[in-house]
Amino acid sequence: MPEPHESYKSFFDDAPLACFSIGVDGRILLANRRAHELLGYPPGELIGRPVIELYADTDAGKRRARQLFERFRNGRRIDGEELEMRARDGRSVWVSLASSPIRDRRGDVARSRSILVDVTARKRAEDDLRRARQRLEEQVAERTRELAASNEKLRQVERLASLGTLAAGIAHEINNPIGAILLLAANALESAGELGLDERCRQTLEKIIANCQRCHEIIRAVRQFAGLEPSTRELTDVNAVIRSAIDWTRGYARQHGAELRCELAPDLPPLLISPAEIEQVFVNLLRNAVEAGSSRIRVRSERTGGGVRAVVEDDGRGMSDEVASRLFDPFFTTRRHGGGSGLGMSISHGIVSAHDGTLRVASTPGRGTTITLELPGATRPEPT
Ligand SMILES: Nc1ncnc2c1ncn2[C@@H]1O[C@H](COP(=O)(O)OP(=O)(O)OP(=O)(O)O)[C@@H](O)[C@H]1O
Ligand SMILES: [Mg+2]
Repeated sequence: MPEPHESYKSFFDDAPLACFSIGVDGRILLANRRAHELLGYPPGELIGRPVIELYADTDAGKRRARQLFERFRNGRRIDGEELEMRARDGRSVWVSLASSPIRDRRGDVARSRSILVDVTARKRAEDDLRRARQRLEEQVAERTRELAASNEKLRQVERLASLGTLAAGIAHEINNPIGAILLLAANALESAGELGLDERCRQTLEKIIANCQRCHEIIRAVRQFAGLEPSTRELTDVNAVIRSAIDWTRGYARQHGAELRCELAPDLPPLLISPAEIEQVFVNLLRNAVEAGSSRIRVRSERTGGGVRAVVEDDGRGMSDEVASRLFDPFFTTRRHGGGSGLGMSISHGIVSAHDGTLRVASTPGRGTTITLELPGATRPEPT
């Protein structure tokens, strides 16, 4: 082992940088005080250790150490390589390593002259910075997603608003001629005897009247959708509204072979709602369930704190994700040929939103659909 000269030894020992020397067998030949301090070893304890033990015990850390050791054995310099080392107590110590090979008289590499600069603080700061940047990027991505979602909502609202205005205008224009056709057909039917109309004519008039009434219903729905139909709110028992909607739909369900059942919680709080509008929502939901070919439709109600949750569950054909995502779009229907206008769910959604409630859909194609309606508690105190 080379013994440094006395004055060189104190210079070497007192140097403020960690200095050491390794032999071609990879063991430490010399290490100064700072090297021991840096890696937390008592004086002298580094001597004789394989240097590889001091590198971080990760695959990458050991691989890097072996590469550098080979470089040293091949007589090449190492200039400012950053490496992770492991202190005696397991701490991670990042260093910048500069090392040159020292050759013996024959010119063979005999040992290294290595200097370590502690860069742990800088590395940590860089890590912190990287983490902070990553967090920031995640937050930006999250905000961007939120912004995109609210833009989409805004676009939907704008689309609905302009559609509503247009539809309300058309509805208004069409209302009068439809009313006139209805009146004329009803008059003709009334005077069928006088006019000598046969059975086929009567049936045709009845069909004309039924279709005019359907037009009126659609117009009323469109006007309601555009916010033109007045609605008054009163403290209401939601169960009574559900029962009434079921009464309205029972005949329709029976005709289509569907059975309607309800399980209504007895302890619902009265809610400040428009009973006619909420009833229409339930009628729309029940009709949709019938039209989906269900054999069983169940309506449940339950209390949610001050509000009410109602669930309409059917075992009909269900809907694909594509249909479910467009469920609340006005005029979206898969029953165009079956007489669907595609307004039922968008009107229902409008009504529920105006009541500060929510309407959620869960559906599995071929198995059925569950629509959950939540209405918040009354904000106006109950009259005494
Ligand atoms: N319970 C359900 N099961 C399966 N599909 C449904 C259900 N409810 C709604 N849908 C689908 O959503 C579409 C839109 O429903 P929405 O009530 O808005 O219109 P519609 O029933 O087609 O027409 P309208 O209600 O105006 O007569 C329906 O055409 C249907 O494809
Ligand atoms: Mg419908």
